[in-house]
Amino acid sequence: MSGEFSFKRVTAPDIAKRKGGAPIVALTAYHAHTARIIDPYVDMLLVGDSLGMVMHGYETTVPVPLELMIMHAQAVVRGSSRSLVVVDMPFGSYEESPSEAFRNAARVMKETGCGAIKIEGGAHMAETIRYLTDRGIPVMSHIGMTPQAVNTIGSFKPRGRFRSEWAAFEEDARAVAEAGAFAVVLEALAELLAARITKQISIPTIGIGASAECDGQILVLEDMLGLSPRVPKFVKEYAQIGEAIETAVKAYANEVRGRVFPSDAYTYPMCDEPAPVTKKPKMTGS
Ligand code: KIV
Repeated sequence: MSGEFSFKRVTAPDIAKRKGGAPIVALTAYHAHTARIIDPYVDMLLVGDSLGMVMHGYETTVPVPLELMIMHAQAVVRGSSRSLVVVDMPFGSYEESPSEAFRNAARVMKETGCGAIKIEGGAHMAETIRYLTDRGIPVMSHIGMTPQAVNTIGSFKPRGRFRSEWAAFEEDARAVAEAGAFAVVLEALAELLAARITKQISIPTIGIGASAECDGQILVLEDMLGLSPRVPKFVKEYAQIGEAIETAVKAYANEVRGRVFPSDAYTYPMCDEPAPVTKKPKMTGS
């Protein structure tokens, strides 16, 4: 390879350098069309395994298969051109061993063209984070309320609201930073604790239901657009797309039932037949 190589997209090291700087803006994206709309305004697009619940109607993220993540990630990469695309490793694809995590994460990176992957878990995943980052896979960590562990935690409730819980979360944050994660998502952590962790570690914290003091924020796109039937307290609905869709579909159904749609403006009228071409008789020379 010759000449200087430069990325046209935001990279994981670019995000890491933003520690303590301008807040990092991140949203989830699951499709090419939404990725295309939001790409100019965010630094990072997360293909979150929340797509299992949001898009596919699962009750938790546990059943999400790796192939589904790859398919959605390919669409998001095709639909975007500048943000860093991070792909969630789904439950069961990385926990067993660092080598299993590498095999699956490498597949995700090769088949999707994403720039990084995300795994849930704190201190107990540090060895895996080190193994992946040493082998060329940028890792974003995810601690606090970790939805893939819902069956052991027992709920999606916020964490760290008792001071007695703080030390364990602080240790998780330190461990993933020391293991080489380029950023860490803090989900549904008590505000004071999230702000405290942000001051304690050297990598950016990306809050979701955490604190404005975090180095960045992320939300699930469909939640902030008012498309999700139930959202946690930490979701601010910036638009009511769900209501807009319902209004539009009701109007369409009424017009179809009343034979109002499609009117002339939406149909193709006949064309005048082209005049028949009369062939001139060929002149024959003598
Ligand atoms: O799956 C997801 O969308 C996530 C975000 C909530 C951080 O992990």
